[in-house]
Amino acid sequence: MHFIWLDADPGHDDVIAILLAVYLDNIKLLGVSTVHGNSSAYWTGVNAARALYAFNAPDDIKVYPGAVKPLARNARYAPNIHGEDGLGGVVGIPQPESTETRARFARHEDGSTISALEGMATAIKETWKGGAGHKVSVVSSGPMTNIALFISTHPELLEAVEQFVFMGGGIGLGNVTPVAEFNVLCDPEAAQIVLDCPVKTVMVPLNVTHTAIATETVHTCLCAPAAQESKSNVIPSTDLRLMLSSLITFFAHTYKEVYGFEDGPPLHDALTVAFVSNPDLFKSRRYRVDVELHGRHTTGETILDLWDFRKCDDTWGMEGKNCLVLESLEVERFFDMFMDCVDRCDRV
Ligand code: BDR
Ligand code: CA
Repeated sequence: MHFIWLDADPGHDDVIAILLAVYLDNIKLLGVSTVHGNSSAYWTGVNAARALYAFNAPDDIKVYPGAVKPLARNARYAPNIHGEDGLGGVVGIPQPESTETRARFARHEDGSTISALEGMATAIKETWKGGAGHKVSVVSSGPMTNIALFISTHPELLEAVEQFVFMGGGIGLGNVTPVAEFNVLCDPEAAQIVLDCPVKTVMVPLNVTHTAIATETVHTCLCAPAAQESKSNVIPSTDLRLMLSSLITFFAHTYKEVYGFEDGPPLHDALTVAFVSNPDLFKSRRYRVDVELHGRHTTGETILDLWDFRKCDDTWGMEGKNCLVLESLEVERFFDMFMDCVDRCDRV
């Protein structure tokens, strides 16, 4: 069993990451903290709560709202990709201020919400039990502000972290500038803090996430039971499938408009959870990776020392080859995993 803390900025593809984290049978999701990113911190918190409700996640999986802005910069959002509220076009989720949504936020006894930092630290400490329990994989699918704050304020808990797995960066590839990917560009200082910490980091870059395309075939299989009628188990269309279909449709539309993706949208964030569950789906290699913090044209770029110019050692952190970089994905097996989770969620 892999214990996961998920830090997210939902976001269409973050919602798919949540689905996998709830329904993969070798993953135990401890909680979901949220961060500014695809939309404001208000919306990303609310959206995580709406997704958990829509997916019928166990009641004890709660949302912990976190940073409203990056460590040292102004917040930037992605309304052109995810809509103003971060989940544009998605049907079948509760209203933002509904009882269902509000009930998902973790609260102290006095009713105040428990923050990302507090929630993360408590869950990791309680799972680790001073070494008698389990390590936790901290998974990030948004800007890494909360994670960097956790690393800075709880160095004593780093021994309890199995790995930091983040969707972000690209190798010579950007999606906000020619070389900068959204999550890293939003908070490059935070990303560098994560890369410098003395714990294994795993980068899921655009080069790989752009192969996880929710094509028309995936979409049909997801929502049109007719497409599966020849099989012995015909799965009827359900509210869940309609919700996921609306999500993919909106996301496909913006990816076509903004980037000219003709075949469908990439499910970037879902690959983080897929990696924790089954690293064998990926080919990967270890490199030195740093973030450009002050480039004239390159701020937010992830710089990968492909030829080992720096002669880094094999330690994680400041001096070493600090990052396992995913380089390719077995796409079909990933989508089988996704469909299995949809089936499982449908049966709850
Ligand atoms: C990343 O940015 C966001 O738009 C997505 O949710 C993903 O985390 C891709 O660059
Ligand atoms: Ca995201």
